[in-house]
Formats: sequence, structure tokens, C-alpha cells
Amino acid sequence: MTLTRVPVFFLAAAAALAAAKTEPPTFHKDILPVLQKRCQDCHRPGEIAPMALLTYREVRPWAKAIQEAVVSKKMPPWPADPHFGKFTNDRSLPLHEIELISAWVAAGAPEGDAQLAPPPSQFAEGWLMPKPDVVFEMPNEFEVPASGTIEYQYIVVPTGFNEDKWVEIAEARPGNRKVTHHIIAFTREPGSKWLPDARPGVPYVPRKGDKSEGGPSELLVGYAPGMEPMILRAGQAKKVKAGSDLVLQMHYTAAGAAATDRSRIGLIFAKEPPKERVFTGNATNSKFVIPPGAAAHEVKSEITFQEDTKLVDLMPHMHVSAGRISCTGWCIPPARRRPSCGYRATTSTGSCFTTWPTSWRFRRGRAWSAPLISTTLPIIRPTPTRPRKCAGATRAGKR
Ligand code: HEC
Repeated sequence: MTLTRVPVFFLAAAAALAAAKTEPPTFHKDILPVLQKRCQDCHRPGEIAPMALLTYREVRPWAKAIQEAVVSKKMPPWPADPHFGKFTNDRSLPLHEIELISAWVAAGAPEGDAQLAPPPSQFAEGWLMPKPDVVFEMPNEFEVPASGTIEYQYIVVPTGFNEDKWVEIAEARPGNRKVTHHIIAFTREPGSKWLPDARPGVPYVPRKGDKSEGGPSELLVGYAPGMEPMILRAGQAKKVKAGSDLVLQMHYTAAGAAATDRSRIGLIFAKEPPKERVFTGNATNSKFVIPPGAAAHEVKSEITFQEDTKLVDLMPHMHVSAGRISCTGWCIPPARRRPSCGYRATTSTGSCFTTWPTSWRFRRGRAWSAPLISTTLPIIRPTPTRPRKCAGATRAGKR
């Protein structure tokens, strides 16, 4: 049996190779579907990448660069270490697609028959998410000066919701990416005492030392360069209570020329009330000292949940270049701490985490019994002189 099977197997393999030799992959049939699925979110007009990769004419001059970028795994950007954790939003290319692109470039990047092209991808223009149900725009343009440090601006945008709403998908969208380092859209419930002097639409900077009572009700959605929309699973949603305001915390950075920005928040509502309510919190540590000359330095930050909690995603973030970041969740009691019930994700050495502050979404929510401690462990390279500036980075310690 074995003897007869083996030659058959070899024959089949040889036939496949021969077919591959005579018929190299072509743009329309083989490559375009990959670009549509993996690249065009960023590589289309108006999005973050410098060139569009929609048509053969656009792609052909980049063929060699595309091969290099996918083989070296520089593109698509995905800094998580593949050895730890599996994520639903993993952007990295499977090996067979890298090989396909390589084979296509090696064959001279042929165009092939345009009849075999898939239909062009449909995008909601101006959004990475599908078409929003509702859009909130800053009522006025904010004028960003050419130079200097700009304090965080808080802009209140009333929702006008007259019933509680459940949000399943949300995107914060800068009007002008050059000067917008981050947007955080918080919700503020009716009756909140947070920022009582801020008037709708008028940029507001809290006075130094002013500890006005209360705080945001919840973080709804954020933006930083390269970040994806918030996309929750069916059955999960964030709540925005009737009569709430959105409060946009805007971090602008001067870019050498005066500019304006008018950012927007897009929301898509859950079709039915969710089974699980989703919250975003943070485990921040902004008070630490790296001893001079340290080879590496570990910084911990923790958060303790008060009840049974499922972790949906994590977004490691730091503001100077990190040697490595790993995140580990542990169950407590401490005697039973073991990384196996959590997850680890590590950035590649030397990467600038601030450039791609992606949320890593777990394949399955990690169900943990209460209470839970989740710990992030950024391991920071020694900084003997000055830390290397990452694109879009600000001072260390400021969120
Ligand atoms: C999340 C957004 C994003 C995705 C997805 C993405 N790119 Fe890019 N790409 C960028 C940005 C931004 C740049 C500009 C260079 C930089 O900032 O690193 C870039 C640059 C490039 C370059 C120029 C490389 C260089 O060395 O300068 C190539 C080639 C490229 N991308 C190919 C691809 C291909 C092919 C895919 C899909 C397989 C892809 N990209 C997916 C954002 C993206």
C-alpha cells in the first residue's frame, strides 16, 4: 500500500510544480484579492499610507518594494510577537500569501486578464469602519499654531440621545492627521460634575491644579496614528446613556505651519441589546525612574477588577522607544499566579510602539474569575542620553 501511495503523492506534487512554472500568478487573479483584504484599508486615497494600491497601474511601480516589505514583514504593520497570543485583528500575512507575492514579482509582476479581477472593494469614504449610523463633528474648527506646545483641549459635543444607546462599532477620525496626535472620546452622563465650565463646542483647557469633581463616565473610542476603529463582537456593546455628552480630549501637536482641525466620531449601534457590556479602562504607570546605566528596566502597572471580567483586548502604549513590551495577565490569588491563564505579547526589539498603537483583540474573551490583576510589563531600554523620538511621540509619562 505504502509503495503505491508514495509515487502517487510525488507525481501530484510534481504536477503542481509544473503548473506553477508555466502559469505565474497574475495581478488581477491572484494579487489583487490579497491587496484588497490586507493592504487597501491603509493604501487608498485619504488613508494613512503614502500611496494607493488599488489598480495595476498604481501597484506595478511598487512591485519590488512590496515584495521586500512583505518578506521582511515590515508590511502589513503588526508588531506583536507571533509566539504569544492569537488575535482576531492580526494583520500579518500568512506564509502562502507572502510566497504568492514573491512568485508574482519574480515572474516580472504580470498583469494578467482583467476579467478575472474581483470587484473593487467598497469603502465608506472617509472612514475605516463601515458607514456610520450617526456622526458627531466638532462644532468648530480648532486652529493649531505653527509652533509651541498645545495643552490638551476638551471639546463637549452633546449627543442629543433621548434614549440609552448601545454602540457596537466606533471610530474617532481626525480632520487633519498632521496635527492630531490623539483623540479620546469620553462619555459624560447627565448630571456629571466633570468640567462644569466647558461650553458645548468651545475648546476648553482645565485650569492647572483645578480638580473639578467627577470624571468622564466612560472611554468610548480613541484615535492615535495607525489605530483601527473599535469593532466589538455581536452580543457586546458600550452603553451611552440618554442625554450624555461626548467629551473629546484632543491632543494637537504643532507641525511647523498653522493648521486647522475638525475631527469626527462615527458610531454604529447594536441591532439589539447586547449580552455583554464592554468598558475600557487603563492600567497606567507614569511615575518611575530608570536607574542610570541599567541594561533593561521593568515597569509594572496593574488594575484590579471587582467582579468576574472577560478581557476583550489590550492596547500597550508608551511614549518613548521601548526595547520590548510584554503584557501578562495573571489570575489571583497571588499564590496561583501563572502566566498560562493570561497572555503575553511582545513587540519586536527596538520598535517604536507609539507608531502603531493597535489594540490586540483576543480570539476569545479571556474569562477570569474575580478579582483579577492584569499587568503590563514594558521593558524599557536604558536611555543614557535622550530617548529616541518616535513618530508622534510626546514626553514620557504624559498620556
Ligand atoms: C495599517 C496600515 C497599513 C497596512 C494594512 C499596510 N500598509 Fe503599507 N504602509 C503603511 C504606511 C503608513 C506606510 C509608510 C511607511 C511607514 O510609515 O512605515 C506604508 C508603506 C508601504 C510600502 C513602502 C515601504 C517602504 O519601505 O517605504 C510598501 C511597499 C507597502 N507599504 C506595502 C504594503 C502592502 C503590500 C500591504 C499589504 C500586504 C501593506 N502595505 C499594508 C501602512 C499600511
